[in-house]
Amino acid sequence: MRVKRHPLATLEFFNTHHVLMTPTPIDLEGDIILEIGSGKGKFITELATLYPNKHFVAFEVQPSVCYHLVLKKEALQLKNLSIILDDAKHVKEYFKPHSIKQIWLNFSDPWPKTKHHKRRLTASHFLKDYQSLLSLNGELHLRTDHEALFLFSCETIKQHFKHVQCDTNAIPYVAMSEYEMKKRLHGPIYYLKAEGTHELL
Ligand SMILES: C[S@@+](CC[C@H](N)C(=O)[O-])C[C@H]1O[C@@H](n2cnc3c(N)ncnc32)[C@H](O)[C@@H]1O
Repeated sequence: MRVKRHPLATLEFFNTHHVLMTPTPIDLEGDIILEIGSGKGKFITELATLYPNKHFVAFEVQPSVCYHLVLKKEALQLKNLSIILDDAKHVKEYFKPHSIKQIWLNFSDPWPKTKHHKRRLTASHFLKDYQSLLSLNGELHLRTDHEALFLFSCETIKQHFKHVQCDTNAIPYVAMSEYEMKKRLHGPIYYLKAEGTHELL
């Protein structure tokens, strides 16, 4: 989905606010928790506030959306949150192999047309990248209100992970994204947690 460009969402703004845009592995110690498609960052900033000793990374492709995420990080003075502005197709290039403890996909774009399914963040080529990034006990989490995306993701994820738990009426988590705040009023939230990746082929 295309978003109108915010006039202040410039390259200079992102550079001066230390937003990562060049694919180089981040040098971080300890557990990393990554959200891909963070939007304006409500979920990841809430988690980063709750757990100051863990490191969080927000990954967002739209500059105008990322701009709000940066402002939120600044307002909350979060030292344990890094922000990447790039397309998820480059995610593997920003981290060392097996360095991530959790990957979160919250209300990812559903791409309903069959010809666009490969753009879904749970398409097989993305899952292979997540497999190579997750640590031994790493977890992939998905939350959505979109049933078709959920069913598709259950299928693809089962091909890549050994243990997959699906919940078709999830209770709120400790942090809630902008989309979940809105969608929760209108119907069930689907949730999936996957662990233990199969061997990478
Ligand atoms: C529907 S919004 C959900 C935002 C947020 N996660 C939430 O739950 O409120 C999906 C977000 O994913 C981002 N996104 C979509 N495709 C992406 C990609 N390939 N790489 C990184 N971000 C992506 C979009 O720009 C958008 O901000």
